[in-house]
Amino acid sequence: MQPLRIGIAGLGTVARGVLGLFAASAGHLERQAGRPLKLVRVASRTPRPEADLAGAEFSTDLGTLLHDDVDVVVELIGGEDRAARLVRDAISCGQSVVTANKAIIARFGDELLAGAAKQGVGLGFEAAVAGGIPIIGSLTRGLAASRVRTVAGIINGTSNYILTAMAEQGSTFADALAAAQSLGYAEADPTFDVEGIDAAHKLSILAALAFDVGFGMDGVFTEGIAGVTAEDIGYAAELGYGIKHLGIARRSDNGIEARVHPTLVPEHGMLAQVRGVMNAVLIESDAAGASLFHGAGAGAGPTASSVVSDLIAIARGEALKYRAGGGERQMLPMSAVQSAFYLRIPARDAPGVFGKVANILGANDISIEGAVQRERAIRINGDGSRSSWVPIVILTDSVREAVMDAAIAAVQAMPEVVGNIKCMRVEHFD
Ligand code: HSE
Repeated sequence: MQPLRIGIAGLGTVARGVLGLFAASAGHLERQAGRPLKLVRVASRTPRPEADLAGAEFSTDLGTLLHDDVDVVVELIGGEDRAARLVRDAISCGQSVVTANKAIIARFGDELLAGAAKQGVGLGFEAAVAGGIPIIGSLTRGLAASRVRTVAGIINGTSNYILTAMAEQGSTFADALAAAQSLGYAEADPTFDVEGIDAAHKLSILAALAFDVGFGMDGVFTEGIAGVTAEDIGYAAELGYGIKHLGIARRSDNGIEARVHPTLVPEHGMLAQVRGVMNAVLIESDAAGASLFHGAGAGAGPTASSVVSDLIAIARGEALKYRAGGGERQMLPMSAVQSAFYLRIPARDAPGVFGKVANILGANDISIEGAVQRERAIRINGDGSRSSWVPIVILTDSVREAVMDAAIAAVQAMPEVVGNIKCMRVEHFD
């Protein structure tokens, strides 16, 4: 049997996970693939003499991977421009590509898949979304017969790790982020994780595959977890909710919505139970109903598992084909999106204030589902004087975002409101 000859670009966390898997499971991988997986070349800007390259030739020049002794280039360098160039070049050379790079698939997926189809080569990116969860294969093969309505989930392990540590151990944001970095979960630039960009890339890939809208980042609303405070986590818990960073893509009659943001979810629901670096993706589709996928969302081992599963598929001669790209990209603006809301309103402690807030919400047809008003706090004004205020915390029923924006502006304008209103979306999944 001819071996599948592999060239790896990069020697970071995921690449070292792939090397470790090759070393630990060579026999198993060969049985799964039906032929040996042979590492022939490795290229990385940073040599790592301690890495076991299994006799492969090493170079600091990525161009060495475009050699005709390499059948598949595994792109694990991350970033965008160099990685996209390498993938384009490899496909042009008639090589298949496996990548864990969500940014380049999210941005250039249509072009890269078209190039791969033209050249008759495979392009695998199972590792790009949700680490070790086989969500790309499940969505494009396992659920191919079912029309997807919603894809929603926790798709950034670092953010979930941070929010879990803040909620369960009272960790500070900075300490929890440092721990996530030391465990190899965070991106090289962790702002991609905490600002929601990494999750937005992944959601955009899932939306493209689920709804046939083409790849791209336009119309994907993106908000990270930096604004989530211990105070909000505490209020959410009092109301029976946890705070998770969710990616949600949904198809309705009006169009497709795609958004990532911190979200209150019921504490006894499935998504609230997803802790630490774990990811979960819920897919609601017409024939199959609700399917929930849960697993490690980041880290060397789980991500390497997905990379090597794509290599095995290529070795078996399975076509890595995706349906994405045919449909019209018609993304809903956030103003048209519907969800429930959590509001934290810092208001002067005076009679009738809650009633005024409730009246404004009522006048906008927004119904209140729950409320908390805690102990009085003392605010020091700019001139040194003191005034007392209370945070009024309200959960609303589902409402169109434009309507909620108008109501918040009206409440914010009340003279009794002494600071910026904090607002987060709330989602209930069945
Ligand atoms: N930084 C990513 C995460 C790694 O935390 O989920 C996996 O894509």
